[in-house]
Amino acid sequence: MSHSVSLSGIQACVFDAYGTLFDVHSAVAAHRMRLGEKAEGVSSQWRTKQLEYTWLRSLMGHHADFWQVTAEALDYALASYDTVDPGLRSDLLDAYLRLDGYPEVADTLRNLKNAGIRCAILSNGSPQMLAAAADNAGLSELLDAVWSVEDVGVFKPAPQVYRLATTRFDLRADQIAFMSSNGWDCAGAAAFGLRVVWVNRFGQKPERLPFGPEAELRSLSDLPRLLGF
Ligand code: LAC
Repeated sequence: MSHSVSLSGIQACVFDAYGTLFDVHSAVAAHRMRLGEKAEGVSSQWRTKQLEYTWLRSLMGHHADFWQVTAEALDYALASYDTVDPGLRSDLLDAYLRLDGYPEVADTLRNLKNAGIRCAILSNGSPQMLAAAADNAGLSELLDAVWSVEDVGVFKPAPQVYRLATTRFDLRADQIAFMSSNGWDCAGAAAFGLRVVWVNRFGQKPERLPFGPEAELRSLSDLPRLLGF
């Protein structure tokens, strides 16, 4: 893995949504005053539980869509921080439909589109959540497709999720670049055979999992250059 490596032969780009294109912590940030010093803890607990519940539900064979999982994870986080504001739950869930896009995302997608590269989202998010977030961040026009795990009824990192990218784009796995800020998502995509770029926004250490990214970036700004466009 290196910062200067070039990924050649890429025909299409597929992006994880939450944490990669959209800032999941912008929901709590929009209501920070109401949470005071609990804000950061609630936001991080919410995200952690949300992901744990996806993995656990997939292992248990009891799928529910990401909207339900997100609400249940929020309930856990609000309870564990003893929050009492009765309107906060629905305000935070509303805010989750209008998350901030990271600042470089729209320009990056525009550059890729101008280079003739098809771009899509592949996410745990339900179709309604993803459409709302993409619209709000002004990304809908820049994307060729938005794919949800709801089409396969299981969450990442199940291989059938990543297979949506090859079947829908009608490309081989090694012709598709997959970008995620989530190290475990990178491992899942690489295990399936996609060409993986880790958008390591938070300066995290590499996961100790089989399979991993071929390249690492700090944001998406350098992606077109990395792919040779
Ligand atoms: C997603 C989660 C992993 O968007 O963030 O699929």
